[in-house]
Amino acid sequence: MSNNNINILFIGDIVGKPGIELTETILKNYIQKYQIDVCIANGENLFEGKGISTESINKLFNIGVNIITGGNHLWDRWEARKILSENKNVLRPLNYPKENPGNGYIIYDTGKKGKIGVINLQGRVYMQPIDDPFRTADWALSKISEHTKVILIDMHAEATAEKLALAYYLDGRISALIGTHTHIPTADGRILPNGTAFISDVGMTGPYDSVIGMKKEVAIKRFLHGVPYKYEMASHDIRFCAAYIEVNPDTGKAVRFESIVFPSFL
Ligand SMILES: [Fe+2]
Ligand SMILES: [Fe+2]
Repeated sequence: MSNNNINILFIGDIVGKPGIELTETILKNYIQKYQIDVCIANGENLFEGKGISTESINKLFNIGVNIITGGNHLWDRWEARKILSENKNVLRPLNYPKENPGNGYIIYDTGKKGKIGVINLQGRVYMQPIDDPFRTADWALSKISEHTKVILIDMHAEATAEKLALAYYLDGRISALIGTHTHIPTADGRILPNGTAFISDVGMTGPYDSVIGMKKEVAIKRFLHGVPYKYEMASHDIRFCAAYIEVNPDTGKAVRFESIVFPSFL
């Protein structure tokens, strides 16, 4: 870790109370260990797995999270609209139509390490058909690159191909593209040829004795019967999933990438 480089920690979808509590317990250690300058967390599942509340986002801001990104579940609770309008450090995917409240990117000042641009985008494959994330990224980069070369994207998407294609499309123009939404950590974290760090999905921070955070019995019934049942949050086998990215602020290129899964699966 060189002194001038910016050290970024990105935490995958934090699911409900179990995810928040584990993050509260261990985040400080990671911030110290990696000398983190900016901490970003996906918070679309903070409130019992669906959406955000003022209390839940404040818990994260109080323990060292600087920016909260979102996704499709943000809209599950009406309160999110007010939070998004009032708090510029809570993002929603930029490529939702502009009539929706909130911001999809922020230029955040870390202080002595300089500025970082954070963009939240959402995929369209097997998801709501919103605006094009590729061209939306081009537009956001034209705005942010006047201010900083250090740029991270949370690409909240179902399809790994869509996330990887976007990462290659932006390789060398952004510092990192971190996939979220599937709640399953992938083993493909790396730095692409032109200096963009990438992982298909960073994984969820929440209960893994579950089907993507919800009670497995309910999920099984939904598949067996082909009709919806009310999801309930699971509560066991809580793990913390995150990515550490070290970026050279002069070039905007990632120089180090590490996946974090705690406790590890093996
Ligand atoms: Fe999620
Ligand atoms: Fe999602």
